[in-house]
Amino acid sequence: MTLQFSLASTAPETVDTPCVVVGVYEGGVLSSAAARIDSAADGAIKRQVESGDITGKGGSASMLFAPAGIAAKRVLVMGLGQQKGFDAARYQRVNADAARALGRLPIDGAVSYLTEIDVPGRDAAWRVRTAVLAADHASYRYTATFKPREKSAQPELASLAFAASAEAQAGLDQGVAIAEGVRFARELANLPPNICNPAYIADQAQAFAAAHSEAVSCRVLDHEEMEKLGFGSLLAVGRGSVNKPRLIALEYKGGAEGDAPYAFVGKGVTFDSGGISLKPGPGMEEMKFDMGGAAGVLGAFVAAVKMDVKTNLVCVVPSVENMPDGESYRPSDVLTSLSGLTIEVLNTDAEGRLILCDALTWTAQTYKPHTIIDAATLTGACVIALGKHATGLMSKHDDLAAELLAAGETTLDRAWRLPLWDDYQTQLESGFADVANIGGKSAGAITAGCFLSRFTEGQRWAHLDIAGTAWDEGRKGLATGRPVPLLAQWLLDRVNA
Ligand code: BES
Ligand code: MN
Ligand code: ZN
Repeated sequence: MTLQFSLASTAPETVDTPCVVVGVYEGGVLSSAAARIDSAADGAIKRQVESGDITGKGGSASMLFAPAGIAAKRVLVMGLGQQKGFDAARYQRVNADAARALGRLPIDGAVSYLTEIDVPGRDAAWRVRTAVLAADHASYRYTATFKPREKSAQPELASLAFAASAEAQAGLDQGVAIAEGVRFARELANLPPNICNPAYIADQAQAFAAAHSEAVSCRVLDHEEMEKLGFGSLLAVGRGSVNKPRLIALEYKGGAEGDAPYAFVGKGVTFDSGGISLKPGPGMEEMKFDMGGAAGVLGAFVAAVKMDVKTNLVCVVPSVENMPDGESYRPSDVLTSLSGLTIEVLNTDAEGRLILCDALTWTAQTYKPHTIIDAATLTGACVIALGKHATGLMSKHDDLAAELLAAGETTLDRAWRLPLWDDYQTQLESGFADVANIGGKSAGAITAGCFLSRFTEGQRWAHLDIAGTAWDEGRKGLATGRPVPLLAQWLLDRVNA
């Protein structure tokens, strides 16, 4: 069940709800909604501040049950931390924490006044959009591959309203649309590779297009069609698997007929064993997330359609499974890519760039897009460089890089730029082909970007390496839905510019 979001304009002391949510800063400074509740409820919050029960520390939460003088049944008091230095990241976190706390209560609805809290540099629409995304993210549960459980008799949180004036309606609508894209991406990426294979992703894309046929169409190329067209690099990667490759293209007409579309391209390796250059066993299960770029661009596409963005957009997903087999491609093979450039395979585990290069060539030729942005769980080196917090951003186009960095700051789905200087290109030289598919030990994220740059000559293009950001660490780590917020915001900024 997904949460329903709305705006609320009733005063916190009179709103009739199972729970109101307010904030208190460290040191017992009440937010304005907390102060109104407190005075209507005869000092019920301040008494708990004085007793030390409510500290206002970041990460803390306290519950008042049925206080006299207010209409709500409960008051959830969230600690906001020090008022000085309260920023966008803490705002996002407290909204997520509140949603988690609400989800543990036997209630079906709540009204949050956290959206009234001042966040430096951000307006009310941002506060509402961010609150929706944080709450929806926090309330997501992966259930697809568990034995179905009987529904509990207890009420479950089904609706959440945020205090804001009607001016924030656009923020709410955008939040709901982007949250749907994030959920789409997370659900697809969390599915195991014995379910989510290239054909499955194609089916999901086609189902989405069928449900939005006024504005969306989908085409899927199978391996035979790609063979005829000359996708020699992509097809080589998929040859070792019985789950045959697909090239999936979604087209959305939100702009004027004939306007060059924006294009998203996402790496869709539904399982990356490494192939003949087999990966070590421990941690290999995480490589089911190697279609995180595909999930991310499809989620951003879903968000764009739900927002009814007034622009043309295409979303292209090359999808394969990388497996060892008698038919597999091998180190030392020379492949002829769709662009005509030949590629010497030095490691079959550097497969992402081999499917992306053909997809980038095809996207540029087929759609003549205004801009291409690709997203890919491309290199372990990017995780070493930037960890799990920042997406690696590479582009030769400074204006495009600036746009993407800004969209990351707006949404807190942040990227950090790495250089694509020509100095690195020599690492990709081969004695047997136009280019090698690996660039040696140093600067692995950058040389992967450099490889892709050879297939995007003359095209306005940026590359997002989401190897660190697409899923959370650990045995129970879930897909994050990144970079859906970043890409959706980038599109919004383009149409609102
Ligand atoms: N999908 C992996 C990259 C990856 C590794 C993402 C770990 C997230 C976590 C990619 O296909 C890969 O295997 N890359 C190799 C490239 C190397 C062979 C040049 C890598 O990063 O080790
Ligand atoms: Mn690999
Ligand atoms: Zn991979």
